[in-house]
Amino acid sequence: MSEETIEYHWGKHHRTYVDNLNRQIDGTDLDGNSLEDTMVILYNKGDILPAFNNAAQAWNHDFFWESMKPGGGGRPSGELLKLIERDFGSLKKFLDEFKTAASAQFGSGWAWLAYKESRLDVGNVLNPLQSGEDKKLVVVKTPNAVNPLVWNYYYPLLTIDVWEVLIKFTLCYSGFETVKTIISFH
Ligand SMILES: [Fe+2]
Repeated sequence: MSEETIEYHWGKHHRTYVDNLNRQIDGTDLDGNSLEDTMVILYNKGDILPAFNNAAQAWNHDFFWESMKPGGGGRPSGELLKLIERDFGSLKKFLDEFKTAASAQFGSGWAWLAYKESRLDVGNVLNPLQSGEDKKLVVVKTPNAVNPLVWNYYYPLLTIDVWEVLIKFTLCYSGFETVKTIISFH
């Protein structure tokens, strides 16, 4: 990713979400909450736009910057690699699924590696039965600003800004290489 892209994306794009959110919540009940709490509270209030959008985009971008480093993070190892192999079959299958999610998200949005917690653990009375889909790593995609944390039982581990993938595609990098090289695994 070029210096110009980072400057623009971090210095203007991300900055605007933060500044707008601060303006919108200044003096309200939300002032003083963590960014994560602000995002979840706004989502659950059904206040999807515009404050939720700004809160979630600010959170997502913070997390996105933490998901990469110069030269990439290399191959995951240890417990994470074991879980990836258990839940996706192999590292390659995970990367393929992640790439597909990023490229299949229409318009702007996010692709995520997330841990899906048991619904039993969060006391969700509407869905009390533990499912085979619980307690494992999953790839999910979200439109616009939406973040898996608002679904209550998904914990993000890694993300890619789909807008960023589109930039990479226009520069003729393959999505697979993009995902593999710019992201470090948490
Ligand atoms: Fe972005």
